[in-house]
Amino acid sequence: MIDQFREVADFARLEIPSAHRRPIAIIGAGGIVDGAHLPAYKKAGLEVVGITDTNLEKARDVASRHGIAKVYSSSAELLDDPRVEVVDIAVPSVAQPDIFATVANAKKHILAQKPMAPTIAQGQVMSDLVDANHIVAGVNQQLRFEEGVAAAHKMVEMGWIGTVTNMSITVNLITPWDLWPWAKDLDRLEIMLHSIHYHDLIRWFLGDPHSVFCAAGRTKGQFPKGETRTISTSLYDSGVTSIVHANHVNRGGDNLAEYRIDGDQGSIRGTLGLLYDYPNGRVDTLEINSQVLPTDGWSPYPVTTRWFPDAFIGTMGSVLAGIATGAPLRASVRDNVQTLRMVDALYRSMDSGSSVTF
Ligand SMILES: NC(=O)c1ccc[n+]([C@@H]2O[C@H](COP(=O)([O-])OP(=O)(O)OC[C@H]3O[C@@H](n4cnc5c(N)ncnc54)[C@H](O)[C@@H]3O)[C@@H](O)[C@H]2O)c1
Repeated sequence: MIDQFREVADFARLEIPSAHRRPIAIIGAGGIVDGAHLPAYKKAGLEVVGITDTNLEKARDVASRHGIAKVYSSSAELLDDPRVEVVDIAVPSVAQPDIFATVANAKKHILAQKPMAPTIAQGQVMSDLVDANHIVAGVNQQLRFEEGVAAAHKMVEMGWIGTVTNMSITVNLITPWDLWPWAKDLDRLEIMLHSIHYHDLIRWFLGDPHSVFCAAGRTKGQFPKGETRTISTSLYDSGVTSIVHANHVNRGGDNLAEYRIDGDQGSIRGTLGLLYDYPNGRVDTLEINSQVLPTDGWSPYPVTTRWFPDAFIGTMGSVLAGIATGAPLRASVRDNVQTLRMVDALYRSMDSGSSVTF
């Protein structure tokens, strides 16, 4: 069994070969850069040459705590630094398209945060800029690199659960939305900021659906304006189904974050430890019950790293591998336009009360 896991482990491994490493500069010194990007880059041995933010005090604070030598006074100054080959953009999505365009036109490679843009049209313009400037650009949909999730993807690819029939993701959380004051008045909240990870992930496993349906709600006393409960279902041409059920106002104190992939010859199930105690988290888990291998019932797969911060090594590593070797990105800007389309279809379903053909 352990031998059979070797190929899976090779695929899920989060390491960046030294030959791929390039100097990185960061635009945005917010919570996610502080808590996830920089710890991940340190672990992976990457060099961050400088950082900027419209709030320079914040940039200075993050730089001093993470040992970053240079705080640029603006994005323009950052782009003038010839050492910078890759720009990591981590600002709210409303600000991202303009920054992305400037960076792309300066012909620097990019890792953008999710959601890549507030609209499909803006996302398409960003994707076109990548092609026009011949740069490599990815989106931080780092759930595709979470070790357990990546291992599950490889297990599916190797046929260990036969033909996939259904994928489901269930999270029931108390989410501290007040950490993101800029999100308070967003009309599109839960799917746009959170479940976009799950919809993007399901797209990686199953491709684009034929049709989607979404029911959503708000809960009395919640901090933000937008929806905080969503139930989204998708139907694929092959007859495969998927569901994402997310509730962010769990007052029961029993956070839950599970995913599951069922096939006609087995099942895979996992948990996302981060969400049991955000942002501290606990270990991620993965198990497989396969009639193909076969396993004797549920067999644990040893996940030894976490969604936060470790999977952030994966998204940056993929951009760096794309630059070094031309390898296709697992979460490219071009692919992410389809994730924005998926998100938009779900909101159209939510607004109309009907299923939407994708
Ligand atoms: N991939 C993930 O799992 C994940 C997790 C959390 C947040 N995010 C995304 O990362 C982005 C940032 O989130 P956060 O939690 O760090 O938010 P935050 O509010 O903590 O930080 C955002 C930072 O961006 C800066 N900023 C805003 N506009 C700017 C501009 N034009 N130029 C330079 N800096 C600017 C702000 O001053 C602030 O410091 C958001 O898009 C969010 O959706 C992704």
